[in-house]
Amino acid sequence: MVPATLALALALALGAGRAAAQGSAAQNMYLEASMYQGFDSSPCPRLLTASGAVGSTALSMPSGTLYRVLAQSDIDGFVSGAPSGVQYAIVMPTSLATPDNIAALRGTGKLAGVILLVDTALPQAFSPESKCPNCAFGLYAGQGNQYNWNPKGTGLSSLSFDFPIFSMSAISAQSAQNIAAINEALDFNAQRGYTKYPLYAMQFDELMFAAQDSATCLRRGNCKPIGGYSIWTTFSTNMTATDNKPVVFVASKMDSVAFIHDFSWGGAQRSGFVGMLGVIEALSRLPAATAMPTLPKHVVFAAFDAESWAFAGSQRMVMDLSQPFSCRSVNDQPTSGCRITGAACSSPCRPTTDFTRISFSQIESFIELDTLGDITRPGGATANYYLHVDSLSTKNTNLINNFRATATAPIFNGSQPVAVSISAAAASDSTNARLPPSSAMAFLAKRDIPAVVLSDYQTEYSNRFFGSEFDDGSQWTANNVASICAAANITARGIYKQAGGTDANAQAISVNCTLIGQLLDCFTRNVTCQLLRSIGVGSSTSLFSGYSSVYFPDRVGFLASVANVQMQTWTSSSTFGFCNSTVPCPKSYQCISSTCMLSLTRFHQAYGTGLDADDSGVFSVVNASAGTWTESDWNTSRVRVFKAPSLLYQGMQLGVGLVLTLGTGAFTWFMRKSLVRRTKRD
Ligand SMILES: *[C@@H]1O[C@H](CO)[C@@H](O)[C@H](O)[C@H]1NC(C)=O
Ligand SMILES: *[C@@H]1O[C@H](CO)[C@@H](O)[C@H](O)[C@H]1NC(C)=O
Ligand SMILES: *[C@@H]1O[C@H](CO)[C@@H](O)[C@H](O)[C@H]1NC(C)=O
Ligand SMILES: *[C@@H]1O[C@H](CO)[C@@H](O)[C@H](O)[C@H]1NC(C)=O
Ligand SMILES: *[C@@H]1O[C@H](CO)[C@@H](O)[C@H](O)[C@H]1NC(C)=O
Ligand SMILES: *[C@@H]1O[C@H](CO)[C@@H](O)[C@H](O)[C@H]1NC(C)=O
Ligand SMILES: *[C@@H]1O[C@H](CO)[C@@H](O)[C@H](O)[C@H]1NC(C)=O
Ligand SMILES: *[C@@H]1O[C@H](CO)[C@@H](O)[C@H](O)[C@H]1NC(C)=O
Repeated sequence: MVPATLALALALALGAGRAAAQGSAAQNMYLEASMYQGFDSSPCPRLLTASGAVGSTALSMPSGTLYRVLAQSDIDGFVSGAPSGVQYAIVMPTSLATPDNIAALRGTGKLAGVILLVDTALPQAFSPESKCPNCAFGLYAGQGNQYNWNPKGTGLSSLSFDFPIFSMSAISAQSAQNIAAINEALDFNAQRGYTKYPLYAMQFDELMFAAQDSATCLRRGNCKPIGGYSIWTTFSTNMTATDNKPVVFVASKMDSVAFIHDFSWGGAQRSGFVGMLGVIEALSRLPAATAMPTLPKHVVFAAFDAESWAFAGSQRMVMDLSQPFSCRSVNDQPTSGCRITGAACSSPCRPTTDFTRISFSQIESFIELDTLGDITRPGGATANYYLHVDSLSTKNTNLINNFRATATAPIFNGSQPVAVSISAAAASDSTNARLPPSSAMAFLAKRDIPAVVLSDYQTEYSNRFFGSEFDDGSQWTANNVASICAAANITARGIYKQAGGTDANAQAISVNCTLIGQLLDCFTRNVTCQLLRSIGVGSSTSLFSGYSSVYFPDRVGFLASVANVQMQTWTSSSTFGFCNSTVPCPKSYQCISSTCMLSLTRFHQAYGTGLDADDSGVFSVVNASAGTWTESDWNTSRVRVFKAPSLLYQGMQLGVGLVLTLGTGAFTWFMRKSLVRRTKRD
């Protein structure tokens, strides 16, 4: 079948997004709705697990006098001296959003809500994730003290708030204008000492429907599993689970997070994925006589989605690979339990069953690309990479030896000569901190497979903005690109040799640094770059959120859609003809960029292994100890500014005089909902 082009898919995404945005105002707010133009904005939503909830919700629609916080001293000043008897809407820089500061503001009893303005200057460091992200679901869960890979983590993202939190970032002309308007209102209020009315006030609408925990909200039908689709590919187009060939498994993660999901730009978080795409492309250029399908082993490449949520992508992949699959029913038409046209299996709902062609017991090694290039810092003349292992067993050290090397990165677009080295993380001080949080963990939990995780950090995350809005790729330079390219080059060679290729043939492999630079640019700075335009991507904004969002059977995320086009193009073993939506390809072929391609590139479901759907598509918690992340439903979320003529008006729903409504409609939906594309079997 012919997949929709990305441009078409994008149009669908926007259409679906607008439709899903639903009723903007309740009936008793008719007047208001006509006064205030309604837009969506970027909230901190409520998320749930089997054991509780995190994030924000506001049962009423609180409002408060706009109050400016620019520095720590303003928070201290507010706590000690804000006029009482009034509720406040605190507007503060994102970099000040620490659990202590938020708790102090809340502790005054004068907090109506918070607006976080994403700082235009980068802070020293900022990570709202925990110190050991996802470790409760990792290989070492329950083993006492967890190693702190992310010591800068404040844990803000794991907290629950009973007041609204919204955020704004100057990423479009519209949002910059909104921020300017807020600043004018703040200037006005500050000049009046926050006491002389009239004053500007803000009202928050952030009602989250879900409460308590995932089991409860799934039962009530007011939350959805966090997830999406991972994507995997192999050059072994005719691979089967019974062909007795060992499998080399290469992985990276595709999704990213930030405290405010709409701003999950995932700069550093996408760098391993960029490196892996560079590796696949390089391996696709080998001469036919020494090409990947001629090797004694298969190599499977997987980019996991929703890894930030209890490793949903990798854990579900392992779950599906490690138990026998049996399809109870197949239906050509979408069913209520499986809204996918042409699903390979309707019950359980699977767009494709080709994952059964990967033999879990044949996986002989696992190579993961975590963050590369240290891209939250301008690159220097040296770049050190580290190979992490669970234990320093002979099998693991053999694997390390295949990937450790030094190289001088080729000059890329004016970069200086960067000396790149890849070595064992544990080597220099002989203590082994074991594996950082990684996809490898899900595989090792089931079987003792030799595994290495390659990263640009040794003892703690290099990404000083892990899981935050500042991880945006604004800082990298040509040196970082050269560094990633050289590391990917060594990795590509190592993978080739691990799959049984000779050292001599491996010398021909060379990662395309221009492509690495383009991918990094497209994924972290300019989504309408030349490369993505050529495959039909169009967007009105330059950045896109990598939050995996919620799982819908018929919705594939933006990066997975892009990767699908690229992976099919690079790994196809046969291509021919012309195709489009009316001129289809024969069975087994897919229409990619108007060409029929035969490639074993497939999507795979990625949502918590503690969740599952019944035959009518209704999810429930099936294992409370495994990943059970869900996101609350909500109708609309927005903030409004109005002029309160007196203290009496404070908190009243009807503001006097239109000032503005904040948020950016289609833009937000583009980021949140990603690209829509029907998933198809081949
Ligand atoms: C959400 O919107 C729908 C459709 O507009 C409406 O039927 C429903 O009552 C709303 N739910 C809440 C809790 O406001
Ligand atoms: C798979 O294809 C390769 C050539 O691309 C061929 O050498 C090999 O025998 C095939 N394997 C199977 C199991 O059909
Ligand atoms: C090369 O570097 C220049 C100057 O830093 C920059 O403007 C340009 O976009 C870069 N080109 C590529 C292909 O990265
Ligand atoms: C990759 O490695 C090969 C073999 O060592 C080398 O010839 C080539 O220049 C390298 N390419 C890059 C981009 O580093
Ligand atoms: C490297 O990538 C660039 C941009 O995608 C492309 O123009 C160039 O032809 C590629 N070089 C090789 C050797 O494939
Ligand atoms: C994004 O890339 C396109 C195509 O190269 C270019 O025309 C556009 O100016 C770029 N946008 C930004 C914000 O750099
Ligand atoms: C598909 O290609 C055919 C032949 O070029 C053309 O007649 C038809 O209009 C195309 N269909 C679409 C939907 O573009
Ligand atoms: C539930 O999940 C936990 C943690 O992943 C796992 O150890 C356990 O085996 C699972 N239980 C069942 C019944 O699958």
